[in-house]
Amino acid sequence: MRDIILGIETSCDDTAVALVNAEGTILSSVVASQLDVHAQFGGIYPEFAARAHISAIIPTVHEAFRIAGITPDGIKAIGVTRGPGLIGSLLVGLNTAKGLGLGWNRPVIGINHLRGHLRSADLEMQRVQYPATVLLVSGGHTLLAYMKNPADITLLGSTTDDSVGECYDKVGRMLGLGYPGGPVVDRLAKQGTATIPFPRPVIHKGLEFSFSGLKSAVARYLDAHQDAFHANVAASFVQAVMEVLIKKSRLALTQYPSASFVIVGGVAASPQLREEAAKLCDKLRVELCLPPLRWSTDNAAMVALATFDYINLSIIRKPVADLQLKINDF
Ligand code: KG4
Ligand code: ZN
Repeated sequence: MRDIILGIETSCDDTAVALVNAEGTILSSVVASQLDVHAQFGGIYPEFAARAHISAIIPTVHEAFRIAGITPDGIKAIGVTRGPGLIGSLLVGLNTAKGLGLGWNRPVIGINHLRGHLRSADLEMQRVQYPATVLLVSGGHTLLAYMKNPADITLLGSTTDDSVGECYDKVGRMLGLGYPGGPVVDRLAKQGTATIPFPRPVIHKGLEFSFSGLKSAVARYLDAHQDAFHANVAASFVQAVMEVLIKKSRLALTQYPSASFVIVGGVAASPQLREEAAKLCDKLRVELCLPPLRWSTDNAAMVALATFDYINLSIIRKPVADLQLKINDF
């Protein structure tokens, strides 16, 4: 029976392919990481990302089929990330999907990467209680969304400049900690005290985020204090980030009554964020849902799951060629 979706995700620096069946069982989920390619630059280098996707995509597709133990005959449709993301990287996934779709005579469905992330908490566990408020905090995105159900998603607010992950990475670089900065900045923060009053950008401005001012404030502080105790800088930075994320999340959960609060994206790995979110959910009596990190960071199983939504929940399909994606165009 043809009931399997092939998911392809190449929006940034991970080449990801997954096979998921109609029951939501993940038959395989392969992620070829480019961390080594970009570590030397302290951030993602788009041209190298696209080239690495070109080398990795076909072997990754083969590996996904090998692990799942199926042939393309079992494929019902192909779901592929159509944006937002790096254009060179997206084109590798899109063209691969179109080629396979033509060759196998299967439909190709373009998926919003953000929808994939927002749906990722339902992978494997199927335990999100709706309505849910979702905080997506990754290297590329920072946003709050309200999901009445998987088919009904409203964007509540997003960052007007940098994402929180990007901010962590830049601060990590300023402190000479390497890439990605998130985990190391968090670890260093634990050894320091939050003594520096860094700004909490747009903290009183509804559900919008902004992180570039905080990043600049850390840079200015380090310029003016060459002998700064780095652990205190990290602790003060993390405290500022947490205050903003938690204040906005509390506002969203109060304005949009939710059964659960979901956090996805690479920054969801932050122990400080997990701790603060747990306290918030305890207070508001909301279920906290933290999916395992392999589903929370970029992967193709989330793209396959979102593809089922398009097929099963009659969500309007967007043409694959539509790359002029608006952030609220879920
Ligand atoms: O979702 P993700 O893997 O990638 C994309 O955006 O594609 O997120 C990566 C981001 C990086 O900016 C990284 O520094 C951040 O997640 N990150 C963390 C932690 N672990 C990873 N940020 C804060 N604390 C962490 N423990
Ligand atoms: Zn992502």
